[in-house]
Amino acid sequence: MNEISMNKKSIEKDITGIVGLDRMLSGGFPAHHLVAVIGAFGTGKSTISMQFINHCLLENKTCVYINLDVGEDQFLETASMFGWDFEKYIEDEKLILITLSSADISTSIMKIEGAIPQFLESTKVDCIVFDSITLLEMFHTSESERRNMMFNLCETFRNSGATTLLTSEASVDDPYSSKFGILEYLVDGVIALRYVRPVGTYDVSLEMEVVRMRQTNHHRGSRPYTITEKGITVSVESEMF
Ligand SMILES: Nc1ncnc2c1ncn2[C@@H]1O[C@H](COP(=O)(O)OP(=O)(O)OP(=O)(O)O)[C@@H](O)[C@H]1O
Ligand SMILES: [Mg+2]
Repeated sequence: MNEISMNKKSIEKDITGIVGLDRMLSGGFPAHHLVAVIGAFGTGKSTISMQFINHCLLENKTCVYINLDVGEDQFLETASMFGWDFEKYIEDEKLILITLSSADISTSIMKIEGAIPQFLESTKVDCIVFDSITLLEMFHTSESERRNMMFNLCETFRNSGATTLLTSEASVDDPYSSKFGILEYLVDGVIALRYVRPVGTYDVSLEMEVVRMRQTNHHRGSRPYTITEKGITVSVESEMF
């Protein structure tokens, strides 16, 4: 074995559960890293998140899913429409689902924000999804407060050692930036989801791009994807690299 091959260390990956995306990422998300999925309304942020967690659960990993966008019933119903039965994993305590209580959203958000660090200090978790971070950011009205909150939250996730996916609404002006422009600076990887509307047609399609991913030889360029009753499918050619 020469010096170069002795020093070469292959990095552990977490399969995303989306075949085309795994190929774009040379095998999946780098384990223990933080990845942002940024996209406008309806681009599939929640579908990617659920598909990833479903795959982690199939691999017997312990997962946390923080969902600020819909209640527990709607979340479980949406997942089951894709064929992902999360209820049994919740019963087995392999999936810890955290959702907002509709009674008092503001109090509920603050409770969740306070409970996450305590929970992750006492429980070993392999995979985390936070879908979406935007509502939490909106509840912090001052810019410095919002930045501090995001920094601390991302540090908490990083220190937990879990592979973490955080979704965010895109900025109105730039599909590659999150709504508040903070998240992308705190994570190790960014995936952008966007609508493509060719000029002069009524067509609308979806494209996905791995904007950056530390320690990964990832594909550069947009790839079309579809959302069906089986989840997300990304179209990639065999000779992509
Ligand atoms: N069972 C299904 N079959 C086909 N397409 C579906 C199905 N469920 C959802 N979709 C498509 O996916 C879109 C929503 O995806 P998803 O909820 O993952 O997006 P999102 O980015 O999380 O949206 P939001 O910003 O509203 O949270 C729908 O608008 C629809 O086009
Ligand atoms: Mg969503």
